[in-house]
Amino acid sequence: MKFKKKILCIGAGYVGGPTMAMIAYKCPDYRITVVDTNPDRIDSWNSAELPVYEPGLDQIVKKIRGKNLFFRKDVEDQIKENDIIFVSVNTPTKTYGAGADMAADLQFVEKTARQILKYSRSSKIVIEKSTLPVKTALAMERILASGKGKITFEVLSNPEFMAEGTAMSDLENPDRVLIGSRETPSGLKARSELIDIYARWVSSEKIITSNIWSSELSKLVANAFLAQRVSSINSISALCEKTDADISEVAKAVGMDSRVGSKFLKASIGFGGSCFKKDILNLVYLCRYYGLKEVAFYWENVIKINEYQQERFIANILNNMFGTLAGKKICILGFAFKADTGDTRESPAIYIAQKLLAEHAELTISDPKALKNAAVDLAGIKGNIKYIDDPYKAAAGCHALLILTDWDLYKRLDFEKIYRSMVKPAFLFDGRNILDHKKCFKIGFNVYPIGKPALSHFKQ
Ligand code: NAD
Ligand code: UGA
Repeated sequence: MKFKKKILCIGAGYVGGPTMAMIAYKCPDYRITVVDTNPDRIDSWNSAELPVYEPGLDQIVKKIRGKNLFFRKDVEDQIKENDIIFVSVNTPTKTYGAGADMAADLQFVEKTARQILKYSRSSKIVIEKSTLPVKTALAMERILASGKGKITFEVLSNPEFMAEGTAMSDLENPDRVLIGSRETPSGLKARSELIDIYARWVSSEKIITSNIWSSELSKLVANAFLAQRVSSINSISALCEKTDADISEVAKAVGMDSRVGSKFLKASIGFGGSCFKKDILNLVYLCRYYGLKEVAFYWENVIKINEYQQERFIANILNNMFGTLAGKKICILGFAFKADTGDTRESPAIYIAQKLLAEHAELTISDPKALKNAAVDLAGIKGNIKYIDDPYKAAAGCHALLILTDWDLYKRLDFEKIYRSMVKPAFLFDGRNILDHKKCFKIGFNVYPIGKPALSHFKQ
């Protein structure tokens, strides 16, 4: 079959895989190829068990894989073959040298630009899909312009706003698609080529364009604003616990103001995931770099409140369980950083598990999708840990139950059965406020939600 466009994505991760699957699904006359330097990842994309769990992803990939969606290892040949290249490689926080623990590590992006330059035999549009510090496109352009031939490259910024767990519906019905370009004739031409792709399924008013720097910066700012809401509500949850106010009631009352809005106001053990912390650190680093100390300080506190919320959760467990966890069995329900994903990157559960082990607690950990990753995250950490699929078996014989991920299935568990199997007094710490706390209290649990009065059977 002759395809109308040939598109390549470099980086077959949580973003590259799902976004390209959606483009291929919506544009059957385009050929989409995804490459990665990690051969195991490509093998998994070509296998029955995909490397990323996302509701709806399996069905789409299995329908179109081998038709117009391909996962391949031959990065160099694919660069030659394709006209439009998305760069969706990882941009973790730097762990070394200048800006360590704060700046984005751009080595993978730079390597990709150099590879594109080296193997290209025709002009191409190169699209930043990864989340990058503002002005990265300038470095990309400079590298791509350093070749000797007549080939030209147009760099666009098209940040991805999908969230894990809802990636496929976010990609199918995005709030907006943002495309940043140079405002030159060739920049505008490349921009309109990319608009044509999204216009296949996204309405035109949702496809917005901007200058390239605004586009790069908007992505960091969008994540910072979302994380800021979580830290804002979590900071108030601490005050609720001191004053008998209820954080869910406060969030409802505040969120019903249409200027504030009701989303992203769920108090929790704090935000996790691979991006919020890294992208805010990146923003803080940029502000410091440009001498904006006060702005840097403002955003840094979003992360500090997030850490404080996790510390508070641990302190609450320790204080309420009579000041010692040594030898006590604690069941963790949920290890993923949020529901509907197996991803555990920066999951608050990692920190909480480590702290509990440091108190010499014994852990049983259950999660419907994230147990493999949990075992990797906690590998090498001293202590007694069991990974158990069945939440009932995981809870049996435990002193306390912690809800760390908002999986729907936990709301439907038989808590009478769980209570009967636990050591008494049985403690329940709901780090996601997803359970019916009054019901659990009536069953016999001592219940400790986030930002709500505790329900305890102990005499004060
Ligand atoms: P990831 O680590 O899952 O995937 C990145 C992939 O790129 C890896 O498989 C890696 O092997 C590959 N890679 C690195 N260098 C390469 C090279 N030179 N050639 C070929 N492959 C290479 O990361 P991710 O979660 O998909 O995130 C990618 C980017 O998208 C990041 O900048 C992230 O901030 C951003 N982002 C992520 C999400 C999310 O939900 N995970 C959402 C929006 C944006
Ligand atoms: C987030 C953004 O929502 C996406 O728009 C963005 O594209 C993505 O980061 C990225 O750049 O990687 P994601 O991290 O997948 O997506 O998931 P979120 O739904 O944003 O949740 C992040 C964390 O905040 C989770 O740990 C979640 O449990 C927590 N959270 C979220 C709360 O504690 N309370 C809330 O009200 C909302």
